[in-house]
Formats: sequence, C-alpha cells, structure tokens
Amino acid sequence: MSVETHRAELVDQSLPMPRRFRALFTLRSIGGDDAVAALLGAMTDDPSALFRHEVAFALGQMQAPGAVDVLKRVLRDVTDDEMVRHECAEALGAIATEECVDALRDACVDGCRVVRETATLALRRLEHARAKRGEAKDAVEAPASKTLGSAKERLSAPAAAAPAPANGAPRDGVDADSPYLSVDPVPAAPASVPSDALTAVLLDESADMWDRYGAMFALRNRGDGPGVARTLGEVLGSSQSALLKHEACYVLGQLQEADATARASLVRTLEDVREHPMVRHEAAEAIGSIAAPDTENLLRKYAGDGDRIVAESCEVALDIMASEMSGEFVPLAACGEVAA
Ligand SMILES: [Fe+2]
Ligand SMILES: [Fe+2]
Repeated sequence: MSVETHRAELVDQSLPMPRRFRALFTLRSIGGDDAVAALLGAMTDDPSALFRHEVAFALGQMQAPGAVDVLKRVLRDVTDDEMVRHECAEALGAIATEECVDALRDACVDGCRVVRETATLALRRLEHARAKRGEAKDAVEAPASKTLGSAKERLSAPAAAAPAPANGAPRDGVDADSPYLSVDPVPAAPASVPSDALTAVLLDESADMWDRYGAMFALRNRGDGPGVARTLGEVLGSSQSALLKHEACYVLGQLQEADATARASLVRTLEDVREHPMVRHEAAEAIGSIAAPDTENLLRKYAGDGDRIVAESCEVALDIMASEMSGEFVPLAACGEVAA
C-alpha cells in the first residue's frame, strides 16, 4: 500500500481509532518526506487529543526536522490539550535542532506542570545532543537486534523495516545499550552507577527529574525485567509527577513483564479517575502490551470511560492486546538503516 493509502486512513475520522493508529505507525515505519507530510496533515483539525499526541510522538521518534514549525506552534498554543503540548515538547527535544530551542525555552516556564517538566527535560536533551555532536560520537553502532519502541509501535505493516530518521541522518539518541529503537527523552545513566543507587534515585521525589528518567532507562536496559517492573510499580504508587508516572507506564509497556505487583499498579492507575488522563492512557496501553487475558474485560470496561483520552486508549490497547496474543508481530531485526 502506498503512503497515500495510509494517509487517507490516517485522516479518516469515521474509522475506528485502532485502524488509524495502524496507519500512523505504518507511516512512521515507512519514513521519508511524504510520510512526514502525511503525519503533519493530521496534527491539526482532529478532535482526538490522543490521536494528535500520538502523531507528535511519531514525528519526534522519526526525528523529522520538517515537523519543527508545526510542533512549535502547537506547543505554544496554551489553549491546546496539555498531553498534546507535552508530546510536542518531547518531540522537539528528540529532533534537537537549533530551531527547537526558543519554543522549548519559553515552555520551561509554562503554566502547565507536565509541559514545563517536559520542556525542561527536552531542552537539556537538546543540549546533551549538541555536545555529543560536537564530540562526533553521536552515531550508534548497529546493534545485533532491537525491537521497535513498544508493542503499540509494532502496530504497523509487519514487513516494515525499522525506520530511519526522516532526514536520513545518523540516528542520534538511540541508546547503544537499549534493546529498544526508541529515542528516549533522557539518556540512560552511565553503566558505572550501581543498580541499587539508580533505584534509590528513581524513587526519590526530591531528586532531579533528569536523573530519575536516566535511572529509569538505565535500569530498563540492564535486563532485570521483574525487578524493574516492581520498582516502576512503586513509582506509580508514590510519585506526584504525572510526567514521571506516564513514562513509568510506557516503560512497563516496553518491558511487557507479567509481574503481579506491577500489573496491579497499572490496573489501579487506570481505575483512578483522579489520575491525570495522560497517565491513565499510558497505563491502559501498557496493560494492552502485557496482554494478560484476565485484563481484557478491564480494558473493555474503560473503553467506555467518560474521559475520551482514556476511552480511546483502551480501544487501542485492546488492539495491541489482540496483536500480542496472536503473535502477529515479532521483534524486528535491526537493519543497517538504524545507524549510519
Ligand atoms: Fe508522553
Ligand atoms: Fe502517549
């Protein structure tokens, strides 16, 4: 199918959200200027905040410089949904060109906490990427095997190759130690830091958010799935930061660990109507990615939630769950396009 066919599905608001998500992630996998243009066309004029934030996420993961103007405009629009604005800030941090700096600087003092916290991390990531480029150490060696960032992102044509950055440049920001092809918002903490110290930082509400994120990704990369899942479950129960909790849910979805305590935390998070919809959304998708059969009814129940972001997330999560259960998607072997 052509980019045009996927674009038509992407913008067709009469289609179920899971189908539009598949079109979205297929375009992300195809990559290139036409796919970026198609995604940009879906960034405005869509009533679904979930959908638009996911488009912004994909543009960030594609590291598409052509998306910067639109992402900046949405980030600056204080009347827009805060989850969408958050994702635009994160995407600008992933793209990390100099044109991204002014909007991110302004957003560091935004009235909305998740936007402010995201912009602060994104600006620091941009400065980190700039310094790395200066050292000419940025290109990542092609790893033996990586999977796309999450089960959700594998909701694309199974034959699609691991996507290259939209500008054809070396992928900057894919951690060499990470088993995932995600551009993380913060680089993982160095290998020299012991895991128990990382766990302590991750759980410390007074610690800097940059350090907590770095600890979370380092722990994820070290491979003790059940242990990390339990720690992330603790984060969900104890942190006041919606930003940190939503990322903890995202990482739990990447890990796909069936650990009972972590799963219970995800369920509590989805059920908590006082929780930020951005966190409940990521909890729903993580539950879908873990794909335990006994959580299917829970997702069905919350697909009727009063918050549209949560309801649509559960629809997508059910699609992820069905895909995972059927074994429809297998981890993609990384190809030479990932690194220059
Ligand atoms: Fe996010
Ligand atoms: Fe999200």
